[in-house]
Amino acid sequence: MTVQPKTAVEPAVHAPPAEIAARAHADAARYAQMHARSVADPEGFWGEEGRRLDWMRPYTRVKNTSFGPGEVSIRWFEDGTLNVAANCIDRHLKDRAEQTAIIFEPDSPEEPAQHVSYAHLHAEVSRFANVLKALGVAKGDRVVIYLPMIPAAAYAMLACARIGAIHSVVFAGFSPDALADRINDCGARLVITADHAPRGGRTTALKSNCDKALRRCSDRVKLLMVARTGGQVDWLEGRDHAYEAMAAQAPADCPPVEVGAEDPLFILYTSGSTGKPKGVVHTSGGYLLYAAITHHYVFDYRDGDVYWCTADVGWVTGHSYIVYGPLANGATTVMFEGVPTYPDAGRFWQVCEKHRVTQFYTAPTAIRALMGKGAGPVEACDLSSLRILGSVGEPINPEAWNWYDETVGKGRCPIVDTWWQTETGGILIAPLPGATATKPGSATLPFFGVQPVVLDDQGHELDGPAEGVLAIKDSWPGQMRTIWQDHERFAQTYFEMFKGYYFSGDGCRRDADGYYWITGRVDDVINVSGHRMGTAEVESALVAHDKVAEAAVVGCPHPLKGQGIYCYVTLMDGVEPSDALRKELADWVRTEIGPIAKPDAIQWAPGLPKTRSGKIMRRILRKIAENETDALGDTSTLADPAVVEDLIANRVDA
Ligand code: PRX
Repeated sequence: MTVQPKTAVEPAVHAPPAEIAARAHADAARYAQMHARSVADPEGFWGEEGRRLDWMRPYTRVKNTSFGPGEVSIRWFEDGTLNVAANCIDRHLKDRAEQTAIIFEPDSPEEPAQHVSYAHLHAEVSRFANVLKALGVAKGDRVVIYLPMIPAAAYAMLACARIGAIHSVVFAGFSPDALADRINDCGARLVITADHAPRGGRTTALKSNCDKALRRCSDRVKLLMVARTGGQVDWLEGRDHAYEAMAAQAPADCPPVEVGAEDPLFILYTSGSTGKPKGVVHTSGGYLLYAAITHHYVFDYRDGDVYWCTADVGWVTGHSYIVYGPLANGATTVMFEGVPTYPDAGRFWQVCEKHRVTQFYTAPTAIRALMGKGAGPVEACDLSSLRILGSVGEPINPEAWNWYDETVGKGRCPIVDTWWQTETGGILIAPLPGATATKPGSATLPFFGVQPVVLDDQGHELDGPAEGVLAIKDSWPGQMRTIWQDHERFAQTYFEMFKGYYFSGDGCRRDADGYYWITGRVDDVINVSGHRMGTAEVESALVAHDKVAEAAVVGCPHPLKGQGIYCYVTLMDGVEPSDALRKELADWVRTEIGPIAKPDAIQWAPGLPKTRSGKIMRRILRKIAENETDALGDTSTLADPAVVEDLIANRVDA
């Protein structure tokens, strides 16, 4: 039921459909009661919920966390031991050995889908784990995974978990340089890749990218290659190993290793405001529990459902909501190798129809792109199996929300707009389908155990309806524990600015109903098609080009991507600006970082607006990129006001 707004500014409220509310894991009363308890008695709440997992040695201590003052330290279930792969596979064998765990839908619709049962998953993961052991990988070692969206990516992650090794998945769209940085930062002893990655009808030469990356890494790093296309690759004897040959020799049985709840499960690199990407560390017990419980409630997952999250395992969404959360719950999870528009704009809907998908979870950027293709491709498919629609990665604009609701969901599927971050491990703010009335564009209310607060610039908590920065007051089990080998940077990035809180880096508004509306990043991180990009990373790629003297990068509005990458570039003396050079620089950044970092606009800037002390005034650059040149704010501290006039006059469109 939709209640129309009373005024133009008040959004429509969509109550949970009665048939969903009647059957859901939680209705409004249960949500309220469980949330209240989770906050009042976290030990009791999580102590009970922790039993969702199978523990080898049960925990006696539930929560031991401090956001400071003093050392920031986050520990959950610290004296418990478990194995993550056993929780995602072995414990399901008794009841669901023949149930499908993973449905693999290849890039080309011509290639048949694969249904991997839990029994088969057990054999594949155990064999993979034995191959890792044969290559000398042991508990605590780091393994980088650079694979396409194929079942082997999940096997590799779970195989690491099975032997207690720490995986770091690197998105297959990242460049050799970005891959090398991550291999070196985490000190990986092995990188797992494929020959080639088919995607959208094209292929990326992953093995060749690894070859280039490994030239910048220690000789001790080994390479394990899975065959995806069977295409031609170069081979370095001694360093390179073929997975299939080794797997043929490996036993299909590998006992799961006992690890501590606080032993790292994975490292995932993500962009921050400054410096190189940070290695976000997630641990085994709390993370897995949090991924599982959020998947259960937010997607209202039930036996017999077919759940599809369209993310890539290279991002946290793929970790928590393709692999760990669903498999911990004994679910059937779809892995899709392709893109929404290949071979045509109906692909997502065709896959939903083909596999009778019940929960569909994607990003606003994809929704906007498909909305642009009209209702035709959606109407051509039978989407009657869909029950719940999810959104993640960036704020969803009400137009896209309404199209998703009406055209895809036919008004019968609750939309769960899920706000969270690589750092949070799982969803922190989202509606529960049977419990929460939704408003287009709002992530609504906190999940169990989560206490969001809106802070002013001084770090004071604001009451009632308010706008400010979004912080979280106390720990939840899925929270990141540290930055790999840089606990100091962890404490500084997230707990220093607003003492006693986890600072999200996002701005937000809370309305009179207590609903949260995320307004975007308040730091120098931009969100391009739901992918996080540090402006500093793009700047350092640009200045690495020999024709560039200086560069400043900001976000700008983009109709499909949410935000685009807008670059101000000062050239070296004597270098002439040209369209050819613009293209050269855009391609350069693409090669240095990866296609997701390709600039949308490059403006030649003879000078950058600086304060007298030499600091670039980014606020002004943002306003010019947003074409809000009437609202530049205070410019009195500018060293040279003429610079700004020039930039306004020569603004380019993204
Ligand atoms: O700005 C927020 C935005 O994405 C950032 C986190 O990016 P990442 O760590 O790559 O994780 C993305 C997937 C969880 C956040 O700081 N963001 C994510 N989800 C939403 C969102 N912004 C608004 N609404 C969302 N639902």
